[in-house]
Amino acid sequence: MRNTTTIKTLLSVLFSALALTACGGGGSDNSAALAALSAAGRTSPTQGATAPQAGSGNTDPAPTDGGEAPADTTPSVLVIAHRGSTGYLPEHTFGGYELAVKLGADYIEPDLQFTQDGELVAMHDDTLNRTTNVATLFAARNGGYKVSDFTLAEIKTLTVVPTGTAATTYPGFTPSSADPYRVPTFQEVITLAKSLSTTAKRKVGIYPEAKQSDVAMEDKILSTLVANGYGAASSKVFIQSFSDTTISSLHTKQLAQKTEMPLILLGVALTDPDGTAKFKVISGSLGTLTLAQVKAFADGIAPAINYDSYGYPITKDFITQAHAAGLKVHGWTFAKADATAAAAEYKKYLDMGMDGMFSNYADLAVASRDAFLKAGATQ
Ligand code: G3P
Ligand code: CA
Repeated sequence: MRNTTTIKTLLSVLFSALALTACGGGGSDNSAALAALSAAGRTSPTQGATAPQAGSGNTDPAPTDGGEAPADTTPSVLVIAHRGSTGYLPEHTFGGYELAVKLGADYIEPDLQFTQDGELVAMHDDTLNRTTNVATLFAARNGGYKVSDFTLAEIKTLTVVPTGTAATTYPGFTPSSADPYRVPTFQEVITLAKSLSTTAKRKVGIYPEAKQSDVAMEDKILSTLVANGYGAASSKVFIQSFSDTTISSLHTKQLAQKTEMPLILLGVALTDPDGTAKFKVISGSLGTLTLAQVKAFADGIAPAINYDSYGYPITKDFITQAHAAGLKVHGWTFAKADATAAAAEYKKYLDMGMDGMFSNYADLAVASRDAFLKAGATQ
């Protein structure tokens, strides 16, 4: 029998690998996670049944944030623009977010990092070099290019570059911004969402992710949202984190400041041998929580898709139990570029009852979501 330290080490390796795999913007290569799971000696449970069912429904009342944006006509299943239009344009950019809305996304997703001078910027990595031209403009600091070692003014001189299947242009699309591939601040993402809501004549949501488990980041996210009119449970915003510590803390802080913005815990789906659905935490406690425990501080869960072979399958029964516990289920990350393969993947999870999908290709997600809802409406 392994001792506690060994098990914690294995879990740490495993979930680091899972997070790294999640970080792969355009692909679905799970080899790092697979290697870690193999090292940890996990077995792979069988995938559950996938009989069709209707979407779970978004019954939020009219939003109060912003005040001037159009009425909320959000469909019952959400398309969340993962890092913007990661499959088409440079991730986490004005151009990428704008294209995603043009392609029909309901929410735009900024991952958030702190600059050296305490500003929140939209950036997935805690370093600048994978997605920007920083190395051509600045020498490394402290052995690398950590976001937190650069000021906002410095980061604003950078250009975000395409990765994976992305390019610098998209057919038929001209970004509104004259400088669409700079690193946006969180405030600029919010301002953009409100502007795009007016242009698109529908309310565009935001889905910020605290990329560090950091109380200062929690405070800055909350204060920025409140300053922009968000706060009610019906606000078109979800705050997400891989850390249960962070989400639990955000819940406590919201109780104190009397706001109710929905909170989503990221992780992986786990089903006990007796069929009980649970949720495995990737950062923070690294524990396994019952769905009731999650519901005590969160409004939904966002499990990784396609982790069946590692022992973390999302099944129809898993989602049914999550809904029974009062939790929304948003899956990440839908990254298939091929339209036929993508449609099959979306349908698989929509048929299980998934409530939202983080997608690199918003148009493909919208097409599948709309077809699913239309089929359900005619049954
Ligand atoms: O937040 C959902 C999804 O974006 C998680 O993956 O690594 O791209 O932030 P990541
Ligand atoms: Ca994210």
